[in-house]
Amino acid sequence: MNDTPLSVALLGSGTVGSQVARILLEDAEELTQRVGAPLRLIGIAVRDPQAPRDYAAPAGLYTTDADALIDAADVVVELTGGIEPARTRILRALRAGKHVVSGNKALLAREGAALQRAADASGAQLSYDAAVAGAIPILRPLRDSLAGDQVERVLGIMNGTTNFILDAMHTTGADFDDALAEAQRLGYAEADPTADVEGHDAAAKAAIVASLAFHAEFTLEDVHCEGITGITAADVAAAQAEGCVIKLLAVCERLEEGVSIRVHPTLVPNEHPLASVRGAFNAVFVHSRDAGQLMFYGPGAGGAPTASAVMGDLVSLARRVVLGGPAVPDFSYAQLPAVGPEDVVSSYTMGLQVKDRLGVLAGMAQVFAEEGVSIRTMHQTKHGPHRGAGQPETTIRVVTHRAADRRVRATIEKLRGLDAVDAITSVIRVED
Ligand code: NDP
Ligand code: HSE
Repeated sequence: MNDTPLSVALLGSGTVGSQVARILLEDAEELTQRVGAPLRLIGIAVRDPQAPRDYAAPAGLYTTDADALIDAADVVVELTGGIEPARTRILRALRAGKHVVSGNKALLAREGAALQRAADASGAQLSYDAAVAGAIPILRPLRDSLAGDQVERVLGIMNGTTNFILDAMHTTGADFDDALAEAQRLGYAEADPTADVEGHDAAAKAAIVASLAFHAEFTLEDVHCEGITGITAADVAAAQAEGCVIKLLAVCERLEEGVSIRVHPTLVPNEHPLASVRGAFNAVFVHSRDAGQLMFYGPGAGGAPTASAVMGDLVSLARRVVLGGPAVPDFSYAQLPAVGPEDVVSSYTMGLQVKDRLGVLAGMAQVFAEEGVSIRTMHQTKHGPHRGAGQPETTIRVVTHRAADRRVRATIEKLRGLDAVDAITSVIRVED
């Protein structure tokens, strides 16, 4: 046992940071045994030291002087979020050789490579397991357990807020805005929930996952991203009628030409394991050449679950510090391009509002045939109200066989040009 404590600076005491403070203070004795030296929380940087907290640490620990706190610490835990001042503070710590634990996927997906270089240059450790899928250990298995394998595809639900919203829409018929407000109340959503519902949070996680899975550097800009703001109660009902649920999936896939990284709503058949992922839970499948298929499942958001992942990183790096071991540098080496979604092949479901008159279906079928997109099923589900010049309308739902994204886009453009097509109300991929 080493009696010299490791001083820990905590930046942020919100949903996650306050739980990290709780664990550090309440489990101090046990953590000392696990690390081999005391972990001493020397201060907590916040914007407002007087603000009420989920966990109230002794008042003297709160400060607004983050820089002074960083300078006095051995290890910095960044849980403030956002790009600045988080980026400058993490760099300050890393350049001074201080180890950093962060859950800031927004920053890591943009600046991860630069931060890692700063860490490698000073011999500091940069750990960020909490950045993806909350409590689920997914980054460490990708980095360590699968280090000798060849990952081919990672697919999963990587955002708790959107899964919570979609699940509520499916099971209770909840309204989108009400479900989002509840997710915010429960501490799942980002400070700006646009990042969740527009898919940017899942996209950031996908970029981080792809970088580790394929040993290359990918950023948020490499990710094709569609969120769930366009998903309506009608889409949910149509999915249910087809024996499916809608999930926001993140997919990182090794293709011949490079790596496809994408986030989009997807129809998942009820019997697929991802369909039963409820609430703010996340689930990630990893397909690799030798291990085959692995599934990781657990709470994907929330204060205590995410704090568990932060503490895992903290204890792990503290052990190494106590034993005198070096930090683990970055091992990315592959020069792989990110490829756009154009050549990605999937099945699709489409909702169309069309005029109910002779020859409409034949005209639509011709467009699909011209673009080489094969129709699997086509349902004329209901007659809508008579509008305009008294022309009756109907709703058509088409499910296609697998087709390249570019062909489906071309089909949609042509369908929009048909006089009989009033609106294309939804286009959603289907996970086969
Ligand atoms: P919150 O918004 O709940 O908390 C942010 C904390 O950071 C607050 O204590 C705030 O201080 C402090 N803070 C913000 N800006 C500054 C600043 N400029 N200087 C000092 N302190 C600042 O965020 P979360 O706890 O939810 O998230 C923290 C990080 O963890 C984010 O990067 C997030 O993406 C990530 N994360 C969150 C998860 C979750 O489920 N919530 C899950 C996984 C990762 P004050 O309280 O005084 O305003
Ligand atoms: N806002 C994020 C989510 C937090 O809902 O998944 C966990 O990263």
